[in-house]
Formats: sequence, C-alpha cells, structure tokens
Amino acid sequence: MSQEIRVDFAHRVVFTRGLFDPANRVLVDSLRGGAPRAVAFLDSGLAAARPDLESKLRSSLDGRDGRPSLLEVSIVPGGEVCKSDREVVDAVVTSVDRHHLCRRSWVIAIGGGAVLDAVGYGASIAHRGVRLVRIPTTVLAQDDAAMGVKNGINRFGKKNFEGVFAVPWAVLVDSDLLATLSDRHWRSGFSEAVKISLLRDEAFFRQIELDADDLRQRRLERAIPVIRRCAELHLDHIANGGDPFESREARPLDFGHWSAHKLEQLTSFELCHGEAVSIGIALDTQYSVELGWLPQQESDRVANCLLRLGLPICHPSLSDPRLLEGIEEFREHLGGKLTVTMLRSIGAPQDVNELRSDLISRAIASISSRSTEFSKT
Ligand SMILES: NC(=O)c1ccc[n+]([C@@H]2O[C@H](COP(=O)([O-])OP(=O)(O)OC[C@H]3O[C@@H](n4cnc5c(N)ncnc54)[C@H](O)[C@@H]3O)[C@@H](O)[C@H]2O)c1
Ligand SMILES: [Zn+2]
Repeated sequence: MSQEIRVDFAHRVVFTRGLFDPANRVLVDSLRGGAPRAVAFLDSGLAAARPDLESKLRSSLDGRDGRPSLLEVSIVPGGEVCKSDREVVDAVVTSVDRHHLCRRSWVIAIGGGAVLDAVGYGASIAHRGVRLVRIPTTVLAQDDAAMGVKNGINRFGKKNFEGVFAVPWAVLVDSDLLATLSDRHWRSGFSEAVKISLLRDEAFFRQIELDADDLRQRRLERAIPVIRRCAELHLDHIANGGDPFESREARPLDFGHWSAHKLEQLTSFELCHGEAVSIGIALDTQYSVELGWLPQQESDRVANCLLRLGLPICHPSLSDPRLLEGIEEFREHLGGKLTVTMLRSIGAPQDVNELRSDLISRAIASISSRSTEFSKT
C-alpha cells in the first residue's frame, strides 16, 4: 500500500534596509501569528562589529502590541568553527527547552552562512521544528545560503555530513548589515553569483563581468542587484526546480562544489567556502574546456572575472592527491550515480557521470599557469 504525500510550504523572503530601525516593521510583521516567545542567536563577528545590535533587537521584540518577547540573545562563534561540533546546535535545543518554546515560537538566527546552518539545524530538531527566522549578514549568506532549505554541521571532517532539510519560516535580507563585513568575506560571496550565472543566466554573467571592479570595491548600489538576482535564482531553483529536498542524483546548483568542499577540508578551512567555490568554478570551467565542450576563451573570461572580483582561482592543495577523494565523497553524500555539472557554454550546463583524473590534472595545470599570468595583468 503506498500513498502519495503532498505538502505545501511557504518560503517567505523579504529584502529590506534598516531592518532593526524602529520604523521598520518587517521583523515584527514576520513574527505575527505565532507564539509570543522568541530567542535569538547572534554571530560573534557581527556582534563585535555592531555592539548596538543586541539592544536594537531587544527593543524591537519587547512583548508589546502583539510582538513576541525576546527571552534570550546568545552570541555564538561566527565562521566554520560553529559547524565543527554540536555545541551551537545543543545551545539552541537547550534554549528552546529552558524558555519553554513551542513549535509556534521563534528561533532567530542572525549571521553568516555557518551560523545560519548550525542554528537552523538546532531549531529544526527541537520539537522536530521550531519556527526559524534567518537574518543573513554576509554576501554569501544573503545571495545563497539563507535561500536554501539546508541546515547542518560538519562531522567526521566532512562538510555538512549531519543535517536536515527544513524550510525556514522567513528570511529577512538587509544589505545595510553588510557594512561591517571584512573585505575577504565581502568578496567571497560573489563566487556563488558567478556560479549561478554560469548555470542559469548568461546576461547576468555579463553584468557581473562588467561590474566586477565596482563589486570588489564594495560599491553597495552595484552589489545589491547582483546579490538580489543571485538570491532570486537560488530561490527559484528551490521553489520551481522540482527537487527541493534533493532526492535526485543531480544537484544542479553545485557547479564547482565537488572540489570546493574537499579544498575547505584539506586546508582545515583556511580557505573559506566562497573562496573554495571560486577555485572549484575555475577548475570545472577549465575541465569543460578539456572535455572539448567550452572554448578556451570562455574559460579565460570566467577566470578573469573571478580574479577581478578579488577571488582566488588556484591553491597549492589542488595538487594534493586526496583532492580526488572529494569525488567519491560528493557521490556518497548525494547517493546513486556520480552526477556533476559541467558547461557546454556559459548559461548552458550539462551533467556528466564520471570525472577523468587525467583531464582534472590538465585543468589544474592550466588554471595554475593562468593564475600567475592573469594576476600580472
Ligand atoms: N545551507 C546552505 O544551503 C548553504 C549554502 C551555501 C553555503 N553554506 C555554508 O555557509 C558557510 C559560509 O558562510 P559565509 O560565507 O557567510 O561565512 P561565515 O558564516 O563563515 O562567516 C564569515 C565571517 O564573517 C563574520 N561575519 C558575519 N557577518 C558579519 C558582519 N555583518 N560583519 C562582520 N563580520 C561578520 C563571521 O563571524 C565569520 O567570521 C559555509 O559553512 C557553507 O557550507 C550553506
Ligand atoms: Zn556553495
């Protein structure tokens, strides 16, 4: 006896500015209709850079006029370290217990992609799921991580080994929160925009190419449309791609990611996710050339664009023989047959079911030589 089960989810995403200003109603309006209790978890990097934020948050959620009461604001370690063990996840679950939160109460996660992943995982397992509001505060979290339905932490030295798919209650994106971000983490978020433009939207890639210097130099008015377009494309994939919980073998938006996840691990996370993705994009774009699919000048365009964004396209760990273990780890994570996306042309992806080590070596040699060549120009 088998039955089909259909479930509808709402994925609420709001773009705003000045989210914590008293006149801004977005946060308060997003928390209507639930229980009047909330807890918040704040990325330590953001908390240090914005000491005013905690009190602004507390005064927005003061229990008056139907607003929930904010019962706790916890500062959690920002960056990949918060995904390295269960400490943050346990802190969220414990907080839900201590403050008697029910499933209709609120867990608010404010921070970079790593904090959103770990806090979101805690929120999704307490009572099998308390309402999660994500407030992303890095470029990468705003243009990619917060849009997804994935939550989790690293285990056994493997990225995102433990986690769940869970749709957040709301995602509130405020570009003003990016002001305090380091240059490094500002730049690294644009690799996901390059990635999705190569897969989905050639005109968007041309726009990024055109604006690359402005984006590197943190011109916010140029960056906002790029972040937003990237977020929309990720959201569209979740909502309309037909496989939000990834039951198929292909993971179409993971261009460049088989090597990126392994490079993060091989460098003990010295490379951050966005940088590793940039190198992975350069590698798989050149692999597409080695396959005889993509013209060399298109791969040069991509490498040049990444370099102008201030992103790396190469790293000594690319020659570590353990890099190739990333292929099997990628397959095992998804299950079934190995399926990796390559490029026929910019905006035209195609899946392959094997990765040839001789072509990978040639692609690495090629991007290594161009990395030095382009950085001189
Ligand atoms: N769930 C998903 O679908 C998904 C998608 C893409 C990436 N990710 C994950 O996201 C993580 C990377 O996220 P990231 O690139 O946002 O980096 P990050 O979360 O590691 O944060 C980078 C640094 O910026 C600091 N920071 C955050 N916001 C700040 C601000 N506004 N001002 C000052 N400092 C600030 C943090 O404390 C940290 O030190 C990886 O773990 C990656 O696997 C998840
Ligand atoms: Zn990614």
